[in-house]
Amino acid sequence: MKILVVGGGGREHAIIKKLKENKSVEKIFALPGNGGMAEDATLVDIGAKDIPAIVEFAKANAIDYAVVAPDDPLVLGCVDALEAVGIPCFGPRANAAIIEGSKVFSKNLMKKYSIPTARYEVFSSADEALKYLDTAPIPTVIKADGLALGKGVIIAMTRDEARDAVKSIMQDKVFGKSGENIVIEEFLEGPEVSVLSFTDGEVVVPMISSQDHKRAHDGDTGLNTGGMGTVAPNPYYTDEIADVCMETIFLPTIRAMKAEGRTFRGCLYFGLMLTKDGPKVIEYNCRFGDPETQVVLPLLKSDLLTVMQATTNGTLKDTPVEFSLGSACCVIMASAGYPEAYEKGFTLTIPEDIKKNVFVAGAKLQDGVLKTNGGRVLGATCTSDTLEGAIDGAYAMVRTIKFDNAYYRTDIGKRALMAKESK
Ligand code: AMP
Ligand code: GLY
Repeated sequence: MKILVVGGGGREHAIIKKLKENKSVEKIFALPGNGGMAEDATLVDIGAKDIPAIVEFAKANAIDYAVVAPDDPLVLGCVDALEAVGIPCFGPRANAAIIEGSKVFSKNLMKKYSIPTARYEVFSSADEALKYLDTAPIPTVIKADGLALGKGVIIAMTRDEARDAVKSIMQDKVFGKSGENIVIEEFLEGPEVSVLSFTDGEVVVPMISSQDHKRAHDGDTGLNTGGMGTVAPNPYYTDEIADVCMETIFLPTIRAMKAEGRTFRGCLYFGLMLTKDGPKVIEYNCRFGDPETQVVLPLLKSDLLTVMQATTNGTLKDTPVEFSLGSACCVIMASAGYPEAYEKGFTLTIPEDIKKNVFVAGAKLQDGVLKTNGGRVLGATCTSDTLEGAIDGAYAMVRTIKFDNAYYRTDIGKRALMAKESK
């Protein structure tokens, strides 16, 4: 089979490595991929948002199955466009990807179907939003409606911060059209859990739970990033909580999307907060999370391609999806300075014996030499019978990977370990 994977980061590298385990996969094309995955896939210089070019390439190369990984092409209708020329895909159509593409849509969906989430108000006028903020409970959370490169959520600890956020989104239009409407919502507290799931629109199969570390520095300090590391499973997510989530969140969401005529197929990501009033949805993503995928897929025992195809064909009910009972830890190595200004172009060396579990996010090949080419450069994942073993193993890998100006957090998994020990 010839497979096409749209996207180019660490998540896509993890997907590609897992797909390669299936013997029927002859060739994988990555659009655009990155130099760090050149040994695993054929890189094609087509951007992930260039849907006409993606479709042309897929037709010309007789692609058998396409995996559309990032949010932008999904929301823009990449799956619809590929399906229209007869290419089966993993991922939701645009009318279902809206669950991530519009926060107003997802909040209204949750309200209509009584799915637990933070209380909220929607605004399309800055004046009204500012007036509401005069009396709104503080802290509060301001969210741009549309996609904003992961930066569209502002946690305002004071009334002034909240007002500034509204002004920058709605008046200065820092996120462009994505900020024409905003959601202002209740600030929730509790441990966060990421649960990715496979769904064919009828059946929903949660994957092993995970925990992201979004802040740049140790102790969860510093700026928000695209994620500095992950562990799986998430120790806060007990079997009991998982049952509650299935009944109150996962199944109701899948059924709600179907009832709205927006059947969701692919990976639906539930960003949850375990509040004292029970689990609530913080956000939905219409795709695999990054860097959650880099710990979840290494623990998947079942064949990824088979499971993906079952979501497309509507046969998930009859398809076993099994995870290992162990743990995984992924430590992200970034360029010093990320998420602000950083330098790139440094030679990157990854020892041969650990490459299997190194997922490259930002690198390019220059005259055959791998150079750093992004803020987040790679993720090193270790799986082990214990969380402690996974953490130690991931840091042992990190110490053998070399590039100038490398930066990583030294406490990935520490909180999870403490939570586990205190049980
Ligand atoms: P996002 O950019 O959508 O991934 O959201 C960024 C982060 O903002 C989430 O991971 C949460 O930590 C936080 N967040 C979002 N909504 C809320 C909320 N209602 N209360 C508290 N924290 C929130
Ligand atoms: N790790 C969160 C995300 O992929 O958006």
